[in-house]
Amino acid sequence: MSDFVNAGWSFYITIVTLVGIACCLWLLFSQRKIAVVLNQDGSVAKDTGHVWDGDLRELNNPLPRWWMWMFALSCIFGLAYLYIFPGLGSNPGASGYSTQGELKQSLIMANSELKPVYDKYVAMSVEQVAADPQAKIMGQRLYLNNCSQCHGSDAGGAKGFPNLTDHDWLYGGASENIKETITHGRGGVMPSFSHLGDEAIINVTHYVRSLSGLSSDSIKTARGKAVFSDNCTACHGADGKGNQMLGAPNLTDKVWLYGGTQSAILETLRNGRQGMMPAQENVLSPEKIHLLTAYVWGLSNSEPQAAKK
Ligand code: HEC
Ligand code: HEC
Repeated sequence: MSDFVNAGWSFYITIVTLVGIACCLWLLFSQRKIAVVLNQDGSVAKDTGHVWDGDLRELNNPLPRWWMWMFALSCIFGLAYLYIFPGLGSNPGASGYSTQGELKQSLIMANSELKPVYDKYVAMSVEQVAADPQAKIMGQRLYLNNCSQCHGSDAGGAKGFPNLTDHDWLYGGASENIKETITHGRGGVMPSFSHLGDEAIINVTHYVRSLSGLSSDSIKTARGKAVFSDNCTACHGADGKGNQMLGAPNLTDKVWLYGGTQSAILETLRNGRQGMMPAQENVLSPEKIHLLTAYVWGLSNSEPQAAKK
């Protein structure tokens, strides 16, 4: 496969390459004899007449034979290489070799070697896989390669990227919820409420903070409660405990995706939030997703973690 936009480029590169080699050979051919330099008296000189530092003379010797042969062989090697391997424009080469083909071949080999290992885990439940030390190491590697850039290498999350090690779930922490999240991705849609006006938004911010016991102004909180009932309960629930079908967070706990400060909540309400968890079904095989599900499930359901709670 070539990346050229049209055949003209391939042709151009082929010409430049072949003419380049031809010029090298011509240069070699043109230098095969020593240039004749004459002395002032008409006799043939042994040097070129260039003298440095008083007595350092440049001799007029022919190019060494071995060097000429090396040069010619390099050109022949180049031509043979270009004949066998891809390199001349988009010409695939006589051998049919390609780096892409090599990669495909080694992927097939790696997959067939790994298949028995994966098959063993696919036959086990997520809970069983999570308890297997080897599966945990494999899951961690998959996690570090594919997930850590967003959720952090310790899976502790960051602003806008949920912590995967706690018991607080946007979309549910059962193994089938986690597998669904990883396979198909998730998109949380928190609409903007700037149309309600600043006063209503500030009031509801106070109410939201009161839900998790954070400091708030009592009058604004009371007014905000009405705003909340009118606008927010459809997704966050009448009690503010959220809805895992929609990924609407529980607003009554101390866990925040975007922050629980006055200004962070205001920003959420003014601009809305759209967290995107990218689907992995086209990136990772179902076997790998199974291992990852077990790894993520295990992060909050392992023994030491459970003991801490
Ligand atoms: C590009 C960034 C990104 C990558 C890469 C990513 N995630 Fe996510 N993930 C998110 C975001 C953002 C959310 C929250 C979605 C929302 O706000 O609705 C999320 C949500 C989740 C959830 C749901 C958490 C909950 O509380 O319900 C799980 C589980 C999860 N990700 C696991 C993974 C795994 C496993 C990988 C690696 C295969 C991964 N993520 C890769 C950004 C990412
Ligand atoms: C259409 C459903 C929907 C409605 C209506 C809605 N929300 Fe949300 N809200 C969400 C979703 C989904 C998220 C998570 C966004 C994400 O994952 O990126 C969210 C996130 C939030 C957050 C951020 C929580 C955190 O942990 O950082 C706050 C605060 C919030 N909503 C408050 C409100 C308030 C107040 C209202 C009413 C004025 C409201 N929401 C109305 C769906 C909704």
